[in-house]
Amino acid sequence: MQQDTSSAHRKTAAPGGRPVRTVRPRRYLMCSPVHFDVVYSINPWMEPEKPTDAALAVAQWERLRSLYLGLGHEVELIEPVAGLPDMVFAANGATVVDGRVLAARFRHEQRAAEGPAYADWFRARGYDVHDAFHVNEGEGDYLVTGDRILAGTGFRTDRRSHAEAEHFLGLPVVTLDLVDPRFYHLDTALAVLDHEEIMYYPAAFTAEGRATLRELYPDAIEATEDDAAVFGLNAVSDGRHVLLPEQATHLIDELWARGFVPIGVDLSELLKSGGSSKCCTLEIRDAEPEAGA
Ligand code: ARG
Repeated sequence: MQQDTSSAHRKTAAPGGRPVRTVRPRRYLMCSPVHFDVVYSINPWMEPEKPTDAALAVAQWERLRSLYLGLGHEVELIEPVAGLPDMVFAANGATVVDGRVLAARFRHEQRAAEGPAYADWFRARGYDVHDAFHVNEGEGDYLVTGDRILAGTGFRTDRRSHAEAEHFLGLPVVTLDLVDPRFYHLDTALAVLDHEEIMYYPAAFTAEGRATLRELYPDAIEATEDDAAVFGLNAVSDGRHVLLPEQATHLIDELWARGFVPIGVDLSELLKSGGSSKCCTLEIRDAEPEAGA
């Protein structure tokens, strides 16, 4: 029998007609950008000849971490590894659903060692870790909505990984093809706001992907090209607060209008590598304790 979990996500309307949003406390994994740099280019944002400032990256990242803590979320830390300048992008490290960890397997050699580093972190803490057979870049391309996993492909994650994820993580996977190299990971083109709510940039997807998204989420917030270009979709939501780049002004207005509380962040240093708040944040979804236990 299918258990009805929908009531937990039902929104009650406030007198003004806007839904009242409730926070679901989260557990995140982050990695300090002490070794951050742009020394290779694997996406159109990365220009190794431009200077970077690791100290500024750390300050911006610390601000993100303290925002999470201030909102009542837990933040776990993984030790940064010298020589892995993109390790700050923890979202790429794995996908965790119900205590099961699908390890990442990176497309590019430059990031390959990050996969085992993150997998070891989870193994050392007793998680059930599955070493991936196919290339996948963790939550960069796998976004979990509660009932399903939205899965990107086209630039990084191999589409054959989608069946592997569905099988191991136990949720239906919806494949979405990405077409704009600026938005090479799904989390640069789409953000999950709540159980059944998302925002996305339609032009980052094929016509088929757009049709799928329209059918599944007819009320989704559609981002403008300006929103997407400032990484406005690289956002993290706890069901009420949405952390996103402060330059994404149109999305910020839309989020207020729907009863969310947008919080603008500045991660300009990390944007030089093609990442922002979501890229820095891996959600650890632990197994729900057994009823009655
Ligand atoms: N420089 C990194 C790369 O190109 C950025 C990764 C951003 N992470 C993300 N989840 N979108 O792989």
